[in-house]
Parts: sequence; C-alpha cells; structure tokens
Amino acid sequence: MSPEEFRKNAHELVDWMADYLANPEKFPVKSQLQPGDLLNALPAHPPEKSEPDSQIFADFKDQIMPGISHWQHPMFMAYFPANSSYPSVLAEMLTATLGAQCMLWETSPAATELEQVVMTWLAEMTGLPDGFHGVIQDSASSSTLIALMCAREKATGFRFNEEGSNQVHPLVVYGSTQTHSSIEKAVKLAGIGRAGYRQIAVKPDFTLDPEALEAAIREDIRNRKIPCAVVATIGTTGTTAIDPVREIGEICRRHGVWLHVDAAYAGSALVLPEFRWMGDGLELADSLVFNPHKWMFTNFDCSAFFIKDTNHLVNVMSVLPEYLRTQSHGKVNNYSDWSIQLGRRFRALKLWWVIRSFGVDGIREKLRFHINLARLAERTIRNWSDSEILAPSHLNLICFRFRPAERHETDWNSFNEEILKRVNASGKLYLSHTRLNGIFTLRMVIGQTNVTEDNVNSALDTLMQVKNQINSEPPNRK
Ligand SMILES: Cc1ncc(COP(=O)(O)O)c(C=O)c1O
Repeated sequence: MSPEEFRKNAHELVDWMADYLANPEKFPVKSQLQPGDLLNALPAHPPEKSEPDSQIFADFKDQIMPGISHWQHPMFMAYFPANSSYPSVLAEMLTATLGAQCMLWETSPAATELEQVVMTWLAEMTGLPDGFHGVIQDSASSSTLIALMCAREKATGFRFNEEGSNQVHPLVVYGSTQTHSSIEKAVKLAGIGRAGYRQIAVKPDFTLDPEALEAAIREDIRNRKIPCAVVATIGTTGTTAIDPVREIGEICRRHGVWLHVDAAYAGSALVLPEFRWMGDGLELADSLVFNPHKWMFTNFDCSAFFIKDTNHLVNVMSVLPEYLRTQSHGKVNNYSDWSIQLGRRFRALKLWWVIRSFGVDGIREKLRFHINLARLAERTIRNWSDSEILAPSHLNLICFRFRPAERHETDWNSFNEEILKRVNASGKLYLSHTRLNGIFTLRMVIGQTNVTEDNVNSALDTLMQVKNQINSEPPNRK
C-alpha cells in the first residue's frame, strides 16, 4: 500500500468509523451469529496474492460485522461496559500509527513520562491517599496477578521468587464469595494454588464480612499457614457491593497481610466526591486497580494499577539482560519492570486525550448522568407489581427479577432465564445475569458512553413486552 493509498483508505475508514459511532443502533446489539458461522464462511487458507483493500473492507462489513456484539451500542446493558469515546479513538489511531513499543524509558521517553503524569492525575482525580504510584496494565486481571505476586514475595521474604514454591509454607489469599473470578485465576497463576484461596462469607448486602475474615485468618495461622493477601472489592461484579475497606484494612494491618483493592469497575466513580466514601480506608491498602477502560470512556485496554512500594514490582519482575541495559537505568522508570510483559503499548496517550477532552468535570457529569438513569430504571422496576430488586444499587447496576403471580415460585428461575434468552435474541437489548443465593438474577448496567433516558425507557419496554409475551403463552411452552 502506498502512502497515497493509505491516505485514501484511511479517510474512507474514518468516515465509516464516524458513522458507526454516531449510530451503532442500526446493528443488533448482540451478535446473532451461531457457533461456526464465520469459521465456515472464511477461506481455510491464507491468500497467496495481495488482495485489494476495497475487498478486504467489504468483507469486514459483510462477514466480520455480523459477528460483532456492539459494546458501544447504547442498549448494551449486559456486562460492565468497555466504554470508548471519540477522543479515545483518535488517540488510539495515533498510537497505532506510531507503533511505538514502550518497554523502556529510552524506547520512547514521552510514553513513560506521559504515563507517569496521567497516573498521577488519576490518583488526584480519584482522591487516592498519598503514597500510591501508578502504572498502566492491560487488565484488572493482570494487575491483580501482579499484586498477588508482590504479596507472595513479601510474605516469603522473596524466597518464592528465588527458590520456587517447594521451599515455602502454604500461603493463603482471601476474597469473598462475590470476589471476581480473576482473583482465583491469579491465585492459581501465582503458584499459590486454589487450595490457598478462601472465599469468605458475605453479609446480606453481599459485602465481605470482616468478622468471618478475621476468624479465617486466625484459623489459618493456627494451622501454620501464611496469610498472604486479602482482596477487597469496591464494586463487585455481581451486584457492585462495596466491601468495607477500612475494617478489612485494619485486619490486614493486625496480621501483616497485603491488602489489594479490586475497584475494576466502580473505581471510576471515586472521581465523584459523593462516592468517595467507597474508598474510605484506602490508605491501608498496599495496591489497587481500576479500569478506565470500563467506565472512563477510554477504549479497551487500559487498567490503572496503583501500588505503595514500587520496589516490590521491581524485585518481583525485573530481570536485566545485557541488551536491555541503558544509560538512563536507575534514573527513570522502566515500566517493563513494573509489568509482566516486556513489550508495552503506548496506552497513556488515549487516557491523556480523554481526560483533557472531557475535563474531569465532563467525566463527573457523564458518570452522574448514568447513575441518575439507573435510579430512574430502578424506580420503574420497583413499581412493577411482579418484580423484585435483589441487591442494593449504589451505582448504575440494577439486579432484579420477575416473580409472576401466574407461575409457581419454583418456576421463577427458569422464567427469568427465558426472559434473558429472548431479550438477547431480540437484538434490541443486551442484558446479563448472575445468581444470588440461588436466585437467577437479571443484571442491567446503565453505563454506555452515550446512553440516553430514551434508551433506558426502551429497555424497560422491551423487558415488559418479553415478559408479557412469555406469560401469555400456554403453560406447556413456558
Ligand atoms: C470487579 C472486577 N474485577 C476484575 C474484573 C476483570 O477485569 P479485566 O477484564 O480488566 O481483567 C472485572 C470484570 O468485569 C470485575 O468486574
């Protein structure tokens, strides 16, 4: 492709991108593809000869697009969002154009220093206590894995890294029954092993019960195990429950245990002064993660990881072969020492662009708008005669179900499951579910960058229609 062809193609693609982002609603929000559809449609072998870009773009539209679920669609209310925005996409185009691999300060000083600046901005925006240092990771899962590896080394005096797992006592990590699955994954990957993971009971509001945590830690100490880390969550995936960070942090301090806070989704809301209470006690944490790629309009991937003592990162992850030794070593941050992978994308640019383009006030305004829309939806759902809210909703996730009087209670789970199936097959709305105390629970997240009140009303209408339709069917089809 010549520079002139690139220019022409790029303009055409940008026009398509602008149209797409202006109106994702012309696509079904959830892909209606069946397993194997695309596999069977695409050639089994790569082309020997160059193909025209116009044909590749046409195939993208005809073959790839039907297999895309539209995360930027305002009726995407399923999982926590992976929000994007125009400023973020603009910056990401530049990142792709530069194609810089930012493993060391010297391989792109601006990438390192911009990362340092935007992470300091984020800490200020979210009101983090003094003493945290930030670095961008690809995901909350990686951030938590790194946190647990640091905790593991602290607990074993760095013996685990040096000698491997055979030489050390059994370590234990604590979460709750509502903690995200990435913590269990990190426990396995960090070599602690699933047997060393305790999922502590939660209270009726789905927050971790500190008394049960303390009891579990004491029990493990009695059994000559080493409590290594506790993961508290600000905004659990199931219900956005906010664990009591201060109480948990005090327990961690008493027992010399690392406290990692997983605020992957809800951390963005710390930008709102009225939600700072969620972070009460964060000064007791050793590390924290939240994802601007979820609810801060910065396209995937961009995970903000904060840690108090960066020596842990370097001790755990730095390996310095000759070819990576640079003149500036020791005088600058080399973020590959703070991450699992050596090669790093220039992610700070999009975050910088988003924060500047929205302004902190603009970010606050959007988040408040989403939270207010969620209150509106929650009120409507509460007012329906045959529905029930199943968990406290502080932010913009509503957990609910229908309890149709026409059905026996034992059928309510399958009834709600059928609602979810039909709603998602409609292409109009995308919801997800969880199970709370055995109850099949519908989850509606109102956090799309451009979601409107009309979208929320239309989502509620769709739900009602689907529910009434199922209710009107003869019992043998229910
Ligand atoms: C509370 C929580 N932690 C961690 C994660 C995992 O995030 P990531 O996809 O960035 O690894 C999620 C995903 O939704 C989450 O809700």
